[in-house]
Amino acid sequence: MSSKFLQTEDEVIANALKIRFYPISVKSAYGTQIKDENGKDYLDLTAGWAVAGIGYGHPKVSNRIKEQYDSLSFTSQLSAPEPTLVSLAKKLIEVTPGQFQKKVWFGHSGSDANDCIAKLVPLEKNRARMISFMGSYHGQTMGSLSLSGHPAQSKFIGSGNVIKIPYPNPYRPPFGETTNLTDQVIQFLEQEVFKTICPAEDTAGILVEGIQSDGGLIVPPDDFFPRLQKTCKQNNISLIFDEVKVGLGRTGEWFSFDHYNVVPDAVVLSKSLGGGLPISAVVARQEILDVGTGIHMFTASGNPVSASASLETLNIIEEENLIENSKVNGDYFISLLKELQKKYELIGDVRGKGLAIGVELVTDRISKTPAARQTAAVCYRCFELGLLVFYVGIHSNVIEITPPLIITKQEIDLAISILDQAFSDLQDKKINMDLVDKYAGW
Ligand SMILES: Cc1ncc(COP(=O)(O)O)c(C=O)c1O
Repeated sequence: MSSKFLQTEDEVIANALKIRFYPISVKSAYGTQIKDENGKDYLDLTAGWAVAGIGYGHPKVSNRIKEQYDSLSFTSQLSAPEPTLVSLAKKLIEVTPGQFQKKVWFGHSGSDANDCIAKLVPLEKNRARMISFMGSYHGQTMGSLSLSGHPAQSKFIGSGNVIKIPYPNPYRPPFGETTNLTDQVIQFLEQEVFKTICPAEDTAGILVEGIQSDGGLIVPPDDFFPRLQKTCKQNNISLIFDEVKVGLGRTGEWFSFDHYNVVPDAVVLSKSLGGGLPISAVVARQEILDVGTGIHMFTASGNPVSASASLETLNIIEEENLIENSKVNGDYFISLLKELQKKYELIGDVRGKGLAIGVELVTDRISKTPAARQTAAVCYRCFELGLLVFYVGIHSNVIEITPPLIITKQEIDLAISILDQAFSDLQDKKINMDLVDKYAGW
């Protein structure tokens, strides 16, 4: 890596925009591979925080972007619409479940899309309150951070109108060890929250991640979302899924809630939607998105270049069977990680769906004390050995595995051998912790 480049970068790029795990400087990327400035190749298990769902540099997206830019580089869809975005909206309406009239809103990031929820859902219901979950990450703008329950947003004021309830975490049950996690969380919501600080009749919507990703790749019990949907229906509360990280095939279905046959009133998308270009979308009941005219709009929202990249990305997901690949290779990845767990006491839990996988590290399996420094060390060592992974979780102790959905079994075998080496080096105290400690992560 070029330390000169990183030094300059450090001088001119705002720290507010950084979470760093190791000193990488990226030169190019293709498929699942990233090349650094010195020509060293890395297998990428991050997909750039899940943006490169179809992999990097797909030739079809590249051609489509060029064609689009040459014929119509820009129009503001707010005032002068064009057909690409309409085709994209139709496609998104087609792949999201629900036999009701839907519309689509477009923006640039997961954050502005969750702001759309923060603004429009309470307005449509004419109810002032929202509910979301502790540990959730919905974005960094004021509306989306108010809806978030992650330590990354806890420094900010947020909104008193959002009540955060515990997420049903089977590995660390919020109400203590139990066989009835779903009952406990739903009862807490219905008997405590609705009866005290957040009456159901004042609650407009519940926003939830199908897998709490930055919270630590937490997969709730199978009966949780059907029960949550029932509670929402009984109380005329909108159920909104934030699929920004795990949507669009990553879990082995189009959306994480498809695993449970749940039909949300609104679905929030971004990250992999643009094939690498910035775009976000909310697909929702028509009445939510039509609650007012011109009340959540950005000049370049759904610009034609991002929209064309997005349309091609959705075609690629279908044509290349990426949803099936996520399922099959995700199962394969998890099975190999579970083998690794038998070898290293440090691995407390392996969980996930498809290619949204978390590996939680603990200092011992009884106390489950989070092993944050060791997690940082494993990520750092993997980087040195040519594998890119980040860590997440409210205790910073979960290795996040969210590779491009095109990853092959051979690449998974390689990833496992590097992870194995990194764990073994940590055990043998071969990792330079001074270097690791320079990278605080989050
Ligand atoms: C589930 C989820 N929602 C929203 C966001 C925010 O997206 P963005 O960073 O594009 O604003 C993220 C980002 O990590 C996310 O994981």
